[in-house]
Amino acid sequence: MVDSAAPGAAVPRLAAAGLSKWYGHVAALNQVSVEFLPGLTGIVGDNGAGKSTMLKIFSGVEVPDEGTVFVDGAPRAFGSAREARAAGIESLYQDLALVETMSIADNIFLGREPARQVLGLRVIDRRAMRREADLALSRVRIDMPSSRLGVRQLSGGQRQAVAIARAMHFGARVVLLDEPTAALGPRETAAFMSIIRDMADREETVVMVGHNLPQMLELADHLLVMRAGMVVATLEPQQTTLRELTDFMVGSA
Ligand SMILES: Nc1ncnc2c1ncn2[C@@H]1O[C@H](COP(=O)(O)OP(=O)(O)OP(=O)(O)O)[C@@H](O)[C@H]1O
Ligand SMILES: [Mg+2]
Repeated sequence: MVDSAAPGAAVPRLAAAGLSKWYGHVAALNQVSVEFLPGLTGIVGDNGAGKSTMLKIFSGVEVPDEGTVFVDGAPRAFGSAREARAAGIESLYQDLALVETMSIADNIFLGREPARQVLGLRVIDRRAMRREADLALSRVRIDMPSSRLGVRQLSGGQRQAVAIARAMHFGARVVLLDEPTAALGPRETAAFMSIIRDMADREETVVMVGHNLPQMLELADHLLVMRAGMVVATLEPQQTTLRELTDFMVGSA
């Protein structure tokens, strides 16, 4: 979705200035300043570079020791994932995305169920819920059984699609993905990435950490390279070779 409140303006939906995070003597993040533009931003870097730490701060799971997060240009301090989500920052992880024991439709709503009043009481509107769930699922164009089914019966790729459908349905401003395809097979990865590419084409702000460098070069609109807690390069994927990317990652560039 293009931000109609700021036509052509350069205020990024999500940004940070001077983020630092220490774990004992380890600087997991060291004075990181970033801005995320509409489209797909890929974040790459060696193990321990600080990628997950950065996403956790943006998603409210970790609190930075220094620095500020900005949403639509306004400084925000998230105390929990719930607060970040309320601000439109949705994060998806392979494992924690869905509640196993609940149906697909229940997972899409999770506390935001449509309700109606019956004799003055608030009652969940099951029919509206299924209708809206089906609509949300149709937007991610992935083969999906009935939304009444339990999530337990879904494959990894289908689960990811449900989580994405949920983020989109509730109008997430930004979607953060930390190695979302790590446990998916090739077909599921391809289907998932086409959903992500669709979102990016609609000018959604999507941020994805990944270790598959050729995939990142092919699919991302923007690339950030992290090393030792810092963002060491901001690259245009079309103008970058695999060799250049790995040189930045290991510090020989
Ligand atoms: N909860 C924690 N306690 C102590 N140290 C941590 C914790 N989380 C991260 N670290 C350290 O912070 C640094 C950055 O970790 P982070 O998980 O952000 O790396 P990453 O880039 O996501 O790596 P990977 O590609 O392996 O997922 C590492 O040195 C790591 O050991
Ligand atoms: Mg990580």
